[in-house]
Amino acid sequence: MTDRPRNVAVIGAQWGDEGKGKIVDLLCEDFDVVARYQGGHNAGHTVKFADKHFALRLIPSGIIHPQKLCLLGNGMVIDPEALLEEIANLRAAGVVIEENLLISDSAHCILPYHKALDLAREEAAGTAKIGTTGRGIGPAYESKAGRYGIRIADLLDPDVLRQKIEFTCAERNAVLRDVYKRDTFDPKKLYDDYLRFAEQLAPRIINGTVWINEQIRAGKRVMFEGAQGMMLDIDHGTYPFVTSSNTVVGGVCTGLGVAPKHIHEVIGVAKAYTTRVGGGAFPTELNDAMGEHLRKRGNEFGTVTGRPRRTGWLDLAVLRTASTINGLDAIALTKLDVLDEFEEIRICTAYKVHGKTWNTFPAFAVAHHDYQPEYKTFKGWKSSTAGMTTFEELPAEAKDYVRFIEDETETRVTIISTGPRREETILRRS
Ligand code: IMP
Repeated sequence: MTDRPRNVAVIGAQWGDEGKGKIVDLLCEDFDVVARYQGGHNAGHTVKFADKHFALRLIPSGIIHPQKLCLLGNGMVIDPEALLEEIANLRAAGVVIEENLLISDSAHCILPYHKALDLAREEAAGTAKIGTTGRGIGPAYESKAGRYGIRIADLLDPDVLRQKIEFTCAERNAVLRDVYKRDTFDPKKLYDDYLRFAEQLAPRIINGTVWINEQIRAGKRVMFEGAQGMMLDIDHGTYPFVTSSNTVVGGVCTGLGVAPKHIHEVIGVAKAYTTRVGGGAFPTELNDAMGEHLRKRGNEFGTVTGRPRRTGWLDLAVLRTASTINGLDAIALTKLDVLDEFEEIRICTAYKVHGKTWNTFPAFAVAHHDYQPEYKTFKGWKSSTAGMTTFEELPAEAKDYVRFIEDETETRVTIISTGPRREETILRRS
């Protein structure tokens, strides 16, 4: 299949939870390496295969395929304890995890004080809280940007590890104790724990940048697996209601040390409607029975936290923004079957904010802006599309819905997901 793009990025085109896990799992047959470039165990990918259900947080979805090599890239923040637990859970479910899982030595560690700070801040913020996953993601990226973070490489040098834990723990303890009136952490215990984690993870730790570029030079095919969604990007998302990493395709370059010329195709994964967890702008949100119906039919509850997701109509301003910033070559549209029962289905084509019409997401967007979405209404198809595998089978109304998305985003919908399983998918490219 020499005409296929060699290296492909799969990224979330909305606010996360678009179903990237299934798409990566589906496509990864054709790839040798699956690499993650940002985020941590705030992500929750669910993959269903052979009647088994795999919950992945840190580890790329490619791990379920025995021959794939998986890399946790330098742009990630990794809680070693959570990683070891995930490895143990996957092994218990029969997944082989040996030399096929590698960790970049330049990725940063999440420590328990990061988590404690995340939780304390959220509580102190009251109604202004971000609604984080409480995993310590933001504080760990702060440590990284502040240049006192503990990197995976530091786990391999006990003296450096001790010094760094002592220094950072003293400072973070002061904030926890004096600002937030929280319990503090014993640096000696942290050191002992992290040394123990280090022993278990050491054989997997490599220079990820050198390794992935060697793979690319050797002609191996790489899939770059995004976590969260582009609207949660620290620079391009709905700041401050975002995560702390670059979820957009540019994150592949910084988060793995891969040059742009090696990213040959970008697939944006979008749900056929919209969801988001946590606070922040959501112009097409449905706070009514319709929204509740979407939540129930789509089983819209967080994989990591179990929180009910906010639900709403598909938003083309979001998809156009995703298409522009990521240069999307294709869209994978997921959960089309969730819309099967609706009389009418709406798509937001633009919104008015303070009298001005926006076709893309306004850069200054914050929650309190008064969005007035403009909708196009489609007649519902009122029949089951669940499990369909060809575009031709889809009801005419569903075809119209998909074609409208293609026209408005100027991006081809090449994959349509009609159920959680691999085979419940329409593949439209040759
Ligand atoms: P954090 O990444 O835990 O700091 O959370 C920041 C924001 O990103 C919150 O609104 C979270 O709900 C959201 N978020 C983080 N990870 C995910 C994800 O995997 N899916 C959807 N939302 C996420």
